[in-house]
Amino acid sequence: MADTATPNVIRRADYAPPAFLIDTVALEFDLVPQRTVVRNTMRVRRNPDASHASNFELMGEQLEFVSATIDGAPFAHAHAHEHGLTLDNVPDNFELTLTSICNPAENTTLSGLYVSGGNFFTQCEAEGFRRITYFLDRPDVMATFTVTLRASKADYPVLLSNGNLLEEGDLPDGRHFARWEDPFRKPSYLFALVAGKLVALEECVKSGSGKEKLLQVWVEPHDLDKTRHAMDSLINSIRWDESRFGLELDLDRFMIVAVSDFNMGAMENKGLNIFNTKYVLANPETATDTDFANIEAVVGHEYFHNWTGNRVTCRDWFQLSLKEGLTVFRDQEFSADMAGGATDEAARATKRIEDVRVLRQMQFAEDAGPMAHPVRPESYVEINNFYTMTVYEKGSEVVRMYQTLFGRDGFRKGMDLYFKRHDGQAVTCDDFRHALADANGRDLAQFERWYSQAGTPRVSVRTKYDAAQQRYSVTLTQGYGDTAPAARETQKGPLLIPFAIGLIGKDGHDLPLQLEGEARASDSTTRVLEFTQTEQTFTFVNVAQEPLPSLLRNFSAPVIVEYDYSADQLAFLLAHDSDPFNRWEAGQRLATRELLTLAGRATTGVPLQLDDSVVAAFARVLTDETLSPSFRELALMLPSEAYLAEQMAESNPAAVHAARQFVRKRLANALRKDWLAVYEKHRTPGAYEATPEASGHRALKNLALSYLAELDDPAEAVRLASAQYDAANNMTDRSAALSALLNASAANGGSVEAQQALDDFYRRFEKEPLVIDKWFALQATQRGSAQRPVIEIVRKLMAHPAFNLKNPNRARSLIFSFCAANPAQFHAEDGSGYAFWAEQVIALDAINPQVAARLARSLELWRRFTPTLRDGMRAALEKVASQVKSRDVREIVEKALG
Ligand code: TRP
Ligand code: ZN
Repeated sequence: MADTATPNVIRRADYAPPAFLIDTVALEFDLVPQRTVVRNTMRVRRNPDASHASNFELMGEQLEFVSATIDGAPFAHAHAHEHGLTLDNVPDNFELTLTSICNPAENTTLSGLYVSGGNFFTQCEAEGFRRITYFLDRPDVMATFTVTLRASKADYPVLLSNGNLLEEGDLPDGRHFARWEDPFRKPSYLFALVAGKLVALEECVKSGSGKEKLLQVWVEPHDLDKTRHAMDSLINSIRWDESRFGLELDLDRFMIVAVSDFNMGAMENKGLNIFNTKYVLANPETATDTDFANIEAVVGHEYFHNWTGNRVTCRDWFQLSLKEGLTVFRDQEFSADMAGGATDEAARATKRIEDVRVLRQMQFAEDAGPMAHPVRPESYVEINNFYTMTVYEKGSEVVRMYQTLFGRDGFRKGMDLYFKRHDGQAVTCDDFRHALADANGRDLAQFERWYSQAGTPRVSVRTKYDAAQQRYSVTLTQGYGDTAPAARETQKGPLLIPFAIGLIGKDGHDLPLQLEGEARASDSTTRVLEFTQTEQTFTFVNVAQEPLPSLLRNFSAPVIVEYDYSADQLAFLLAHDSDPFNRWEAGQRLATRELLTLAGRATTGVPLQLDDSVVAAFARVLTDETLSPSFRELALMLPSEAYLAEQMAESNPAAVHAARQFVRKRLANALRKDWLAVYEKHRTPGAYEATPEASGHRALKNLALSYLAELDDPAEAVRLASAQYDAANNMTDRSAALSALLNASAANGGSVEAQQALDDFYRRFEKEPLVIDKWFALQATQRGSAQRPVIEIVRKLMAHPAFNLKNPNRARSLIFSFCAANPAQFHAEDGSGYAFWAEQVIALDAINPQVAARLARSLELWRRFTPTLRDGMRAALEKVASQVKSRDVREIVEKALG
């Protein structure tokens, strides 16, 4: 069917406006699981700005065509085909009514209209609306929608759609109806409906201008006790968008609905956000601190889309980062403000560090492989494959750079102008850039390259101090190094890089900064240099002593900085840099360097050793009670195995694992007393509190526990972990204890304590699917040993009665956790991990291509691995390529092999 068609490449350069426009849509649904009838009445007219077409081509997939009428009369010249419906020789302006049937019960793709847990849900972004009715399913066609839902009242007591409820009532035969109207024009991808047995937590709030708003969080009845945090996050999001951007909620009612079968995190449908349960449901017993933080971020993200995405939307899907990059930036700022306000730099830095860690581990890797693409891609086969780290996370960094260049006020002026110009329109990334440029009186032509060039830029730094003249020169050179072929083609010239820098004196304090040609030193000891040429020298004057440079403060641009710091200099920065991000960064550089050296040794079998000075640098952080616990936790966490493997000339997961484990054990044994002291000191007795402070204590304490589990004699850690497991009143502590028990016993092939805790965990949370996901994930990501390879545990768990490939959360908890988050076990030399991967990609492909394509991506960096692994991965990719059916997976494996 449509999915097996030869992949067609869609190109940005081929954009053409639609031949017709649709101004209004009236949808009527008769909701029946196996056979839902949809009647769609549209007001259609020719687009004055497009070239003439006599036929009207509508998109449609997996639909059974029933009938078409134009201006009330049956229309005979309608031809349904695999990709939609063609109407021959239509008038210039007409009312079109189309009737079609779809089958939500059998829709396992979770795109379009589907049934989950006996209730109806929709997911229309990016191209799911065409699986509901025939339409011009593209974001530059915007219409106002009226929606009538009819269904059995007993089975589907709640009927929801976008906007405001106009009317509801009973119908014959035990059926009822509801009619909704969305007053705002919107593209079809923002349409939503929900029907079923749901209950809501409700709250009324007043918006900034004093209007009453009804807020609802809809869930299945047994989950009502897990909705408070999502509601609080929604209220905070509304307040924040008013105060930071002057943006008010524009509907009388705003709804969030949780569903357990969902392809991604959540969806910003106008007034009716639909969420993966994972990003709504939380109480202290079932959700970790990380879950609480993620819920706040995702609730904020979807709410912020109401302006950045919905009021102003994308002209075409190449502009996806226009809404996603901007909205990720907004949710990151929201979380930072919630944690630290505008002024607590240390608390803000914690959030920044977490975000940059994700970017560097995931997006830099994407940029280094066959899927590398610019923030605004030039082409795609399947748009679902371009909801990527580059579009979202790098896109957010690109938006952040405007704020770094213009300041918060200048950024706000740019946003104000963007809405003034484009409210109600479908626009491009260029439109956004022009608004920012014009509001700040700047020419940002060069900045366009951030949208069109793929690959991670490298900035190398040379410095020179002239003691006699008291001058310090910093020479920056930019380029892309040896990037992936997919990225290289897009690279045209130097970027405008905001490069934040500080200079640190011998006493550890920042030195005043005065650039050559300036009358005096600036007030701030951090300067944002505008680095625009391939090579450029910035000279600081009146520099009384040779400084140590603090480079790219707060990660002011998404680049790799190359500078030859000595180990001592890094230890000094770790102890003194006034920029908390760069303090953390110095520790990471120090650790990365040691770990890569050790990984190199591990490949040749040379015995490993770690210098005492490195242990001492970590000890200082561990014991420094003036630092916030959350910062210490981040600073003491070693770079991940995936990130380290990526840095090797030839990725060798086994060597990286050996090196990282060696360092963890060395730090555990050498600092045993300190870890124990930290463990005791940062306990959080009493009732659970979800504050950033309390979660910082738990994070540091649980990191200490994880190090203690590495001790040569883990008896003490096992005792502490068992006690923590039994006494825990929250999921953060309970899951950390379980993880410590699993890992402490891994080398000995498991322990009674670990098995007992696992069994207890399952029984205790049997009725909580999100917690059972954790139970699967903890086992899939655990350390293995020669006697007990994790692949065997994973294969056994695939047969567990609670496992279900059709539920994306469950599939991710076991399969993705193993294939993407347990590199040392997944990349077993015998290829057992790859064989498993191929089986699962093929199985998922038949159920849910979007999810299958995500899993398919876990082998895309295969060319960078050692020869044996490379061969194994190629064979697995070829196997998948020969069997796979969907356009989604085909694009991924063909690019990987290509
Ligand atoms: N627009 C959504 C967001 O980022 C994400 C999204 C895109 C999505 N496609 C989806 C969610 C498909 C679920 C399914 O906020
Ligand atoms: Zn989004």
